[in-house]
This record gives sequence, structure tokens and C-alpha cells, in this order.
Amino acid sequence: MATVQAASFLHFVIVASLLASTHGAKPSRYSMPFNRTSFPKDFTFGSGTAAYQVRSRALRELHIVTNWFIPKSPKSEEDIKAAYRILDFLFGWWPSHFGYEDSNSYTLIVTKLCRFLNPLTYGDYPESMKSIVGHRLPKFTKEQSAMVKGSIDFLGVNYYTTNYATNNEAPNKVNFSYSGDSQTILSTSKGGHPISTPGMYDLMLSIRDKYKNPPIYITENGLADANNASLPVKEALKDGLRIRYLANHLQYLSKAIKEGVNVKGYYQWAFWDDFEWDAGYTVRFGLNYIDFKNNVKRYMKYSAYWFKMFLLH
Ligand SMILES: *[C@@H]1O[C@H](CO)[C@@H](O)[C@H](O)[C@H]1NC(C)=O
Ligand SMILES: *[C@@H]1O[C@H](CO)[C@@H](O)[C@H](O)[C@H]1NC(C)=O
Ligand SMILES: *[C@@H]1O[C@H](CO)[C@@H](O)[C@H](O)[C@H]1NC(C)=O
Repeated sequence: MATVQAASFLHFVIVASLLASTHGAKPSRYSMPFNRTSFPKDFTFGSGTAAYQVRSRALRELHIVTNWFIPKSPKSEEDIKAAYRILDFLFGWWPSHFGYEDSNSYTLIVTKLCRFLNPLTYGDYPESMKSIVGHRLPKFTKEQSAMVKGSIDFLGVNYYTTNYATNNEAPNKVNFSYSGDSQTILSTSKGGHPISTPGMYDLMLSIRDKYKNPPIYITENGLADANNASLPVKEALKDGLRIRYLANHLQYLSKAIKEGVNVKGYYQWAFWDDFEWDAGYTVRFGLNYIDFKNNVKRYMKYSAYWFKMFLLH
């Protein structure tokens, strides 16, 4: 009971801070009563490394890091194709350096052979990739194709953001590379305006329609703040932007589920500020703040209270 009362009070504090931080944006879109009851009963939520618990229980999983892509010029046929193409290259295919190994030999074989969603669904590489990469792309034998097709139990997706895709009219035809082959130029803003689109929702619907609706776990989704050493801890805890990000993504995820996408779980990244694999301590992803200069003392950010509220209701 005490928890619920505390939660209600925090709800008030959080919604108040949220309203204060939305700067005129429509607050109703982000405030409760949107909560976990909008998700199926057996849906699992977690944060940070909880995702690995899901992973370790599954023998056959494909884990993908992807953004969503939209054409920079919505009316340009070439940019529209570029957006689909980069998705084929990043998502329909699976770049080997993101692969993870496992001591389980079956998983090892599967992750080595089947890093590719298109092959996993249809037994072959995406058409756009075959036509561009041509003879440089290895071919599946009939046996390999049959072996990989339909061989995953679920798809793990790390989703953070959406990019604009523009057709690269002058791809490097001398020195080939994986990034060059996609013949796209990516950007995150247009005319000075940052991208704003329900990318996660579109990505989910695309998986439903293009890849035969496999069970999906969102194994990572979250927002980083720059680690500002001169910002007082008290101020750093007021992360209204993170709350809006999470609320927005969860709302669109629940909409996607209602429209038939087979999403089974959502794992927020990260439970606390961490040493990020490609950014070290320069960013703070946590729901919980860590004071690295003071014996790694921990504080709940407003988003931690928000997420707790969301889960309790
Ligand atoms: C949770 O969300 C549902 C659906 O929007 C709503 O009916 C319910 O009142 C909410 N619960 C709380 C405690 O806010
Ligand atoms: C191809 O790579 C070589 C060797 O790095 C470099 O000298 C050359 O300028 C590159 N050509 C193009 C078109 O990128
Ligand atoms: C860091 O925080 C300080 C104190 O609030 C602020 O004055 C400064 O603008 C911040 N720096 C950046 C890069 O946001």
C-alpha cells in the first residue's frame, strides 16, 4: 500500500516535471494513465542486462541492431528506394562484426551461419543486395538455404532511432565496401530539424509484413544524455526527455501489438549509467544515475520513477 501511495505522489511529481519540461508540447500524449495494462498479460518488461536472461533461455535467436530509415525527400523515387535498400543491407543482412558467440555449439553454428534475417525467412539474401553486390556475395547452397530458413525462435531487436536515407548517386565503384554497397547517405536532420517519426512502430509493422511476423523481443531501447561533469546531480536527475522518449516508444509499441505485431517483451537500456561499449563514460543511458566521482553512489532519475509507475499500474 505504501508503495502505491508513494507511487501516486511520485506520479504527481513526475507528471508535473514532465509538463514543465515539455515546453508547450502536448502533455496529454505523454502523461499516464497509459500504463502496462495496455500490453498483453504475458508481456515481459525489463531493463538493461535483463535482456540477456531472455537471450540465454533461447537456443536459436537472431539479435539485430537496426535503425529505421525514411526517405529524405519523400517524393523522390530514388530516396524511397534508398531507404528500403539500407534496411535490406542492415536488417535483411546481418553484418558479422555484431555477431555474438555462445559456448552452446548449436547456437554457435546458427549464429555463424544465419546472421541474416532475409535468409532466415526466405533462405536467400535480399534482392537489392544480390543485384548490387553481384558475384562478390556468396551463394547459398540448397542445403544451407533449407537449413537457415525458419530456424529462429525469436528475433531480438535493438532499436534507438531513425535516419533519413538519400540515394548515393556516385557510389565508389573502385573500392567496394559494405557501407558503400548500400549506396545510401544517412542523416538525422533535414533543414535543421531533427528527425521525428514513429520509427519503432514502422519497423515493427515492416517486420510483420515483410518477415512473416516472428516473435520479437525489443532487447534494447533508450536515450542517452551527454555526461556533463558540471551539471549538479540534482539537475541531472530531471530527465523529462527520457520519460517522453520511453512513453512515446512504448505507446507506439503497444499500438503495433494491437495491430498484430508479435512483440513479446521490451527491455529498456539501461538500468543505470554504464560504460558504453562505443562511448565510454561520455554518455548516460541510465534510469538510475551513478555518481562516478562519489563512490558510485546511485540515485533514481525521474525516468526510473516513471517506469516504476508505468509497471505498477
Ligand atoms: C491504466 O491504463 C488503463 C488504460 O488506459 C486505464 O483504464 C487505467 O485507469 C490505468 N490505471 C491507472 C492506475 O492509472
Ligand atoms: C581506392 O583505394 C586506394 C588505396 O587505398 C586509394 O589510393 C584510391 O584513391 C581509392 N579510390 C577511390 C575511388 O576511392
Ligand atoms: C553543463 O551543465 C552546466 C550547468 O548546468 C551548464 O551551464 C552547461 O551549459 C552544460 N553544458 C552542456 C554542454 O550542456
